[in-house]
Amino acid sequence: MKKINIVLFGTGNVGSTVINQVLAAREKLQQEENLELNIPVIANSTTAFFVKQTVNRSWETNFSASGFPYKISDVIDYVTQQGYENLVAIDATASESFVDHYKLLIEQGFHVVAANKVANTLSSEFYEDLRKSLRKNGKFFYYETNVGAGLPIIQTLHGLYQAGEEITRVRGVFSGSLSYIFNTFSEESKSFSEVLTEAEKKGLTEPDPRVDLSGKDVGRKLLILARELKLKKELSEINIQDLVPKHLNGKSSLKNFQLKKHELDGDLEKLKADLEEDEVIRHVGELEIATGNLEVKLVKEKRTSAFGSLKNADSSFEIYTESYGEQPLVIQGAGAGAAVTARGVVADILRLSERLN
Ligand SMILES: NC(=O)c1ccc[n+]([C@@H]2O[C@H](COP(=O)([O-])OP(=O)(O)OC[C@H]3O[C@@H](n4cnc5c(N)ncnc54)[C@H](OP(=O)(O)O)[C@@H]3O)[C@@H](O)[C@H]2O)c1
Repeated sequence: MKKINIVLFGTGNVGSTVINQVLAAREKLQQEENLELNIPVIANSTTAFFVKQTVNRSWETNFSASGFPYKISDVIDYVTQQGYENLVAIDATASESFVDHYKLLIEQGFHVVAANKVANTLSSEFYEDLRKSLRKNGKFFYYETNVGAGLPIIQTLHGLYQAGEEITRVRGVFSGSLSYIFNTFSEESKSFSEVLTEAEKKGLTEPDPRVDLSGKDVGRKLLILARELKLKKELSEINIQDLVPKHLNGKSSLKNFQLKKHELDGDLEKLKADLEEDEVIRHVGELEIATGNLEVKLVKEKRTSAFGSLKNADSSFEIYTESYGEQPLVIQGAGAGAAVTARGVVADILRLSERLN
């Protein structure tokens, strides 16, 4: 039986769902795939919980009762003492700094699966350095959920590129929250700020919705796809349309933004008034390979197009290539949420495990 030993960092929405999904799939994987997935260590930013083989369904109670403060070296020492094979570190944190541990983890025998986008969106230097370290240590790094959550965007793009397909253009409605906001705003006779408030109440936006409206997160995802196609790009090179006016961003408080968000309505109402009968507004990220241009912006789309017919908070991606011709390859569906993201993480673990002895 092949054994995979998972150390899970981040027990929030995604991380806790990963644990539950792994535990639920364990028996079937043992019987059908001859594969044993164990989770001997789980950790959040301050506390770690260690067991001999794997956590069980009471992990939350046990974590609270028996977890203790830790350093990353404690985790490494523990897995070394136990002699675990096939180690996989899962980064289900939302941390800017956790990626500082990646190199050490890789050198100490871990493969990495990340839902966290940070490692792929820092400088090109960091990006290349990480890959050098992976090659040198014979380790793998999977991060399908960085773009489109559980949707198979990165593997599809990567596979096409590897197979020698000429990819000319990639477009996407990358953000679930902005998808919902513009799908609703285009259809209903409500002001933009009303729709935004509705999205906040449904928990679709970040606690500070300016994070979504700034377009930076979409920019990060676009950068990840560009780098997948070997374009040497930095986040600062992406043209991002920030939907938040300068005076409500930066030093201005969230409270001030909430009081004045109706000031966003004018420009967006005008854009809506300029639409033809068969058009809607969509928030997209676009990558033109020939020019290397990366843009995040609002566009008018035909209602009948893949983006134009989007519903709720769904994401959609169009990949234009030589073989697919005028009609792009389209991948569409829920592009956010703990369940689909965790499933994408588990799928990454399984794809990784196929490459291990
Ligand atoms: N939710 C989605 O739809 C979605 C989709 C795709 C990708 N993602 C990505 O998945 C990641 C997790 O998202 P989430 O929604 O689960 O976030 P979350 O609920 O905020 O959970 C984050 C977890 O990370 C832990 N953490 C923070 N810093 C850490 C550190 N230095 N070491 C170990 N653990 C640390 C936190 O622990 P404390 O409680 O101790 O701070 C918490 O348990 C994020 O990077 C997000 O961008 C999410």
